[in-house]
Amino acid sequence: MIGATGRTGMHVLEQGAARGHEVTAFTRKPELLDGRDDLLAVVRGDATDPSSVGEAVAGQDAVIAAVGGSGIARTLIATMRAAGVRRVVMTSSRSVPATRPRFAVGMAWLIFRKAYVDLARAEGMLEISGLDWTVVRATRLVDRPRKGRVHVDFEADATGGEAMLPRADYAMALLDAAEDDAMIGEMPGVCGARAGAP
Ligand SMILES: NC(=O)c1ccc[n+]([C@@H]2O[C@H](COP(=O)([O-])OP(=O)(O)OC[C@H]3O[C@@H](n4cnc5c(N)ncnc54)[C@H](OP(=O)(O)O)[C@@H]3O)[C@@H](O)[C@H]2O)c1
Repeated sequence: MIGATGRTGMHVLEQGAARGHEVTAFTRKPELLDGRDDLLAVVRGDATDPSSVGEAVAGQDAVIAAVGGSGIARTLIATMRAAGVRRVVMTSSRSVPATRPRFAVGMAWLIFRKAYVDLARAEGMLEISGLDWTVVRATRLVDRPRKGRVHVDFEADATGGEAMLPRADYAMALLDAAEDDAMIGEMPGVCGARAGAP
């Protein structure tokens, strides 16, 4: 699990362990996980460093990256190929493909252009990686109580759900994607569940 001590990553660790997975946490700040006994291992390192990432991915069934980017994608692809690990789920942003609502997406691109261009690069790298990849594109992540539901779709503009997506629900969507072979080769968009929606 890459980005393990981030605000989403912490939820992935907790929910992954609760689902019965043996989770290896990869982080630059292992001290934040001191005392955790629900993890298989904690590996310290930068996710762009092939040596420490290679140590963490060896022997894993799947890798979840709760943080995206081309440097991380490049390192994951190389180390996973070398270790013979095929399944990877990487975080991206819904703003990468979205064109609507025009004002909100335009403003977001003005502010976060560099990050979105890099996420687009990372998505492309995974697409041609030959790995069993899924890119999960989140809308706006917020620290709100978990609903236990999300809206998942494959259309660019995320019209079917709420723009605000609790990080705990996004973590659930990352784990759901990793467990679902039908998601291999897909780039689902994930938004918050609408009130009253199934
Ligand atoms: N915020 C949004 O609304 C939004 C929307 C769509 C997508 N996203 C994506 O969702 C991701 C997760 O969001 P979040 O709010 O949970 O982020 P966060 O709290 O900032 O967590 C990101 C984690 O990734 C780690 N990280 C970053 N680069 C790393 C590297 N090179 N090596 C090792 N660890 C690294 C950070 O480590 P350190 O603590 O050591 O820095 C941090 O723990 C974001 O990275 C972003 O790409 C965000």
